[in-house]
Amino acid sequence: MKVREWDPRTASATEITSLVALLNEVSAVDLPDDPLWHDGRMRDYLSVTMPGERKTMWLVEETPGDAARGVAPLGAGSILLLGDIGVVEILVHPKARRQQIGRALLTEQVRLAHSEGFDLLGVEVAGGTCAVDFFEAYGFTLAFTEIRSLLSLNTVDWFTLGDLAAGVGAGYQIEFYPGGPPDHLIAAYAAAKAEVRDDYELGDLELRPSSYEPQRLQASLNTLDARGLKLYVVVAVVEKTGEIAGLTEVVVPAQRPGRADQYDTVVVPRHRGYGVGRAIKARMLFELRSAEPKLTEVQTWNAAVNEPLIKVNQELGFLADRSWLEYEGDVAALAQRLGITGTSA
Ligand SMILES: CC(C)(COP(=O)(O)OP(=O)(O)OC[C@H]1O[C@@H](n2cnc3c(N)ncnc32)[C@H](O)[C@@H]1OP(=O)(O)O)[C@@H](O)C(=O)NCCC(=O)NCCS
Repeated sequence: MKVREWDPRTASATEITSLVALLNEVSAVDLPDDPLWHDGRMRDYLSVTMPGERKTMWLVEETPGDAARGVAPLGAGSILLLGDIGVVEILVHPKARRQQIGRALLTEQVRLAHSEGFDLLGVEVAGGTCAVDFFEAYGFTLAFTEIRSLLSLNTVDWFTLGDLAAGVGAGYQIEFYPGGPPDHLIAAYAAAKAEVRDDYELGDLELRPSSYEPQRLQASLNTLDARGLKLYVVVAVVEKTGEIAGLTEVVVPAQRPGRADQYDTVVVPRHRGYGVGRAIKARMLFELRSAEPKLTEVQTWNAAVNEPLIKVNQELGFLADRSWLEYEGDVAALAQRLGITGTSA
């Protein structure tokens, strides 16, 4: 077994295919109801980051060159250095588990985070999988819990949905924008996001940070596009003022076009209680139905404490799927535990 740094930007097409095979082997065991990943734009998905973020990846092969020969690697790991946190991912082939491969990948991640002066690692783990035991074994602690919910489009009652889409107070204009908000709405869009962020702190680790000011927002739109993630947004514009009362974002990945991710849905506090949240999410489903004929499911994540949003999701037909856990680990303690630094360090 050999761990080596791996750069998806320069990897051969066969290596990328081998990595997709690993992803699907892992998914089949840990998230058996999730659709499989495709090769389309996987290189972009793996290598493109937001400006200022840095990503490093490693592969573990049984015999050097396996991935280049089309053999799925035994494991893969990555660390994304963003802000003051290193976000890690570790995948170990089901046939190669409990052989310390996860540990070897974690060791590389911690070594890098430590040498770059990062104090904290974060990781997202699907509830009920052995990753929970793995990260807890290394002293990671649970920081935040979300619920993943799934909507199967063939269960949607489109007539009822029409009522939800139309059931919004007078004075709000609901608008749909494939590709993201147009230039004239960027500032208002970022302002709405910033206002909701200031309104209440849910306490998550910001492993998927949102963009609250126009320049950063534009950069994140460009990044999504460059990673092969097609963005759709629906906004509720206040007719009188042009401000944005609410917005919802869905991304359809080229790497898994059957299942979309619903990202942020926010309603600015003073516009709550007028049916805005329900209307924008319902309108989004109608638009997706015609824009993305291959789409069969939408998944979304909510803080377990975000009751208004959970209620809207239930009305639309989303069903809670499983918990999604954010764990954090202390780099100095991990470095000691993994023997990277001496016990007296
Ligand atoms: C989590 C995962 C990476 C662990 O990889 P692994 O190579 O099997 O882990 P290791 O052999 O290095 O295990 C190290 C220690 O973690 C703990 N551990 C790992 N798997 C465990 C399990 N299934 N049950 C209990 N403890 C476990 C043990 O303490 C183990 O040490 P031990 O074998 O000496 O008892 C692997 O199960 C996996 O790929 N899971 C699916 C992908 C995933 O969810 N990744 C996390 C999100 S990115």
